[in-house]
Amino acid sequence: MALTPYPSPTLWERGEGTTAMVVVFKDAALPPDYAALTYPGYRELLEMESPPCGPIFGVGYSLFGQPIGLALAAGNVQSAEQQAPAQLLSLLVLEEFRNHGIGSTLLTRLQAELRQAGYDTVTCIYPLHKPSTPTLERLLARQGWQAPQPRLLICRIQGQAVERMLLAPWMHPPPLPTAFTIFPWHNATATELEHLEATLATEPPFDPTLSPFFKPKSYETCNSLGLRYHGNIIGWMLTRRLAPGLICYERLFVMPPFQRTGRAIALLAEAIRRHYDREGDLPLPNRGGVWLTQATNLPMARFIRRRMAPYLTSLTETMEAVCQLLPVRSEE
Ligand SMILES: CC(C)(COP(=O)(O)OP(=O)(O)OC[C@H]1O[C@@H](n2cnc3c(N)ncnc32)[C@H](O)[C@@H]1OP(=O)(O)O)[C@@H](O)C(=O)NCCC(=O)NCCS
Repeated sequence: MALTPYPSPTLWERGEGTTAMVVVFKDAALPPDYAALTYPGYRELLEMESPPCGPIFGVGYSLFGQPIGLALAAGNVQSAEQQAPAQLLSLLVLEEFRNHGIGSTLLTRLQAELRQAGYDTVTCIYPLHKPSTPTLERLLARQGWQAPQPRLLICRIQGQAVERMLLAPWMHPPPLPTAFTIFPWHNATATELEHLEATLATEPPFDPTLSPFFKPKSYETCNSLGLRYHGNIIGWMLTRRLAPGLICYERLFVMPPFQRTGRAIALLAEAIRRHYDREGDLPLPNRGGVWLTQATNLPMARFIRRRMAPYLTSLTETMEAVCQLLPVRSEE
């Protein structure tokens, strides 16, 4: 069946028709029927007068007065020294109206609006294994976006799956040699932490966000662990509690000389065990964990795909794409 393009929205903009229409929202609240065309997490941003992420830009598409598509971006707060990129938050066209050029129209217009507002870069983070990801990637490529790069692996485990994972072979590594000791992170002394901070200032982890001192959080005490080698801290697994029973395993790192020797996995396995020992009384469905790993952390990404994936409730891989916005051509 041949697909017929919907009436071009530019007709409406020229006042020649009223069936299809592109609406641009800047500094204005989006009507609720448009807000329904983005993720629930972003809907409350749309009601705020000055959202913390910076100004919101929306481009909507309606047909016979009915909203059927929305592209949404956050402008980000610009600083005097550095121009922060805008972020494409979501792009959605109702399923029955896809493959008629509406997504492309929305993105083209949104990019033009962002450029007009002074942004020269826009980025987009999206999940890899969704049915419309290939369509989105072709659409981005046609609009001049650079090739997307892998960004994060987001692992979730919940309920019965936890019980199975506790039996996995990697959850039972051989005992560490006696020079190594695992200790609760909150027992690290002030002197040890000062020494570690000074060491990391000269030899930072390849991913600085893995440092305990990067935007320090209040780490969960039941299973945030450190690893000492002959009394010096050489590794850590730092976690945060998200909800009763639910812990986020955030920063796993061992110093380079000790990498690839199974030390990190021993720390991870011990943290998981302590978490579930402590919370054994909670109902099974309430117990779970979330792991975030940068896709550039190749050894950990490989471990997750090979060893953890069979036990996980879900594994989401995200991609990041970037587009340099071309200057707007001045009207002749
Ligand atoms: C991604 C998404 C927004 C694309 O919207 P869309 O309106 O279908 O996009 P377009 O119509 O512009 O492009 C889609 C395809 O239709 C084709 N097309 C466009 N107009 C056409 C026409 N008149 N006749 C035939 N084909 C047409 C395009 O060439 C494109 O083909 P390709 O994928 O083979 O390259 C839509 O699939 C969607 O809402 N997905 C769910 C949400 C999502 O995943 N969003 C992205 C993450 S935020």
